[in-house]
Amino acid sequence: MCPPEHFTVEYTINPWMDTTVPVDPALALKQWHLLRDTLTDLGHAVHVLDAHPGLPDMVYAANGAFSVDGRVYGARFKFPQRAAEAAAHQLFYAGGPWTFAGPEHVNEGEGDFAYLPGAYGGLILAGHGFRTDPAAHAEAQEVLGRPVVSLKLVDPAFYHLDTALAALDDRHITYYPDAFSAASQRVLRQLFPDAVIADRADAESFGLNLVSDGHHVILNTEATAMADKVRAHGYTPVLVELTELKRGGGSVKCAVAELRP
Ligand code: ARG
Repeated sequence: MCPPEHFTVEYTINPWMDTTVPVDPALALKQWHLLRDTLTDLGHAVHVLDAHPGLPDMVYAANGAFSVDGRVYGARFKFPQRAAEAAAHQLFYAGGPWTFAGPEHVNEGEGDFAYLPGAYGGLILAGHGFRTDPAAHAEAQEVLGRPVVSLKLVDPAFYHLDTALAALDDRHITYYPDAFSAASQRVLRQLFPDAVIADRADAESFGLNLVSDGHHVILNTEATAMADKVRAHGYTPVLVELTELKRGGGSVKCAVAELRP
């Protein structure tokens, strides 16, 4: 995670970002700390990346890389405003037990990649359409040695895979079908007939932008209907207020890069 110490909305690269509405920096920081404390209270170790001035979106740490079983596929951001974030993430992995591969193709890390270790021996779901280049899906498959299922996002409001789909545990997902092309919806139905189906209101409340450890599902407080859905499927929702991060077009998942050593 990376604290929102320099977080602002000073450019618009997704439909949620409105530069005329100011962010409350103190509130953003307070909410971020509560999210971090929620994760540590649940027993998860959280590493913190230093925030850099001039990189206001660095708080969305999920976009900096994608790791699977000790291998890390680095990010290459679509927009120049975020390009320098990739190096900060690379430096983090250089200090640990990882094999890091720098990307040739544009991809925004866990923003557009999800991993299900228990599905089909380990399956990667990947989004394209707004940020990540489909060529990066093939590149990720070569770097990570896991099958990558390519999914096309079609609604600009849900520009990253992690705004439209989430892994609930090692084998189960939840997603908002209309965020995907008709063909990709069919692929998802085929692979995950038992998925938890979300609706537009769930997606708009960033209810799919969740982090799950397989038992606890961490969601933002606006996503009450989504919390009910995951509870009905046997998970325990944990709600954290993240109003300020939504102003940049992100929520819980965007703020957390999951490490898979
Ligand atoms: N403002 C950031 C952008 O548009 C938000 C990134 C949200 N992160 C995510 N994992 N969806 O790039």
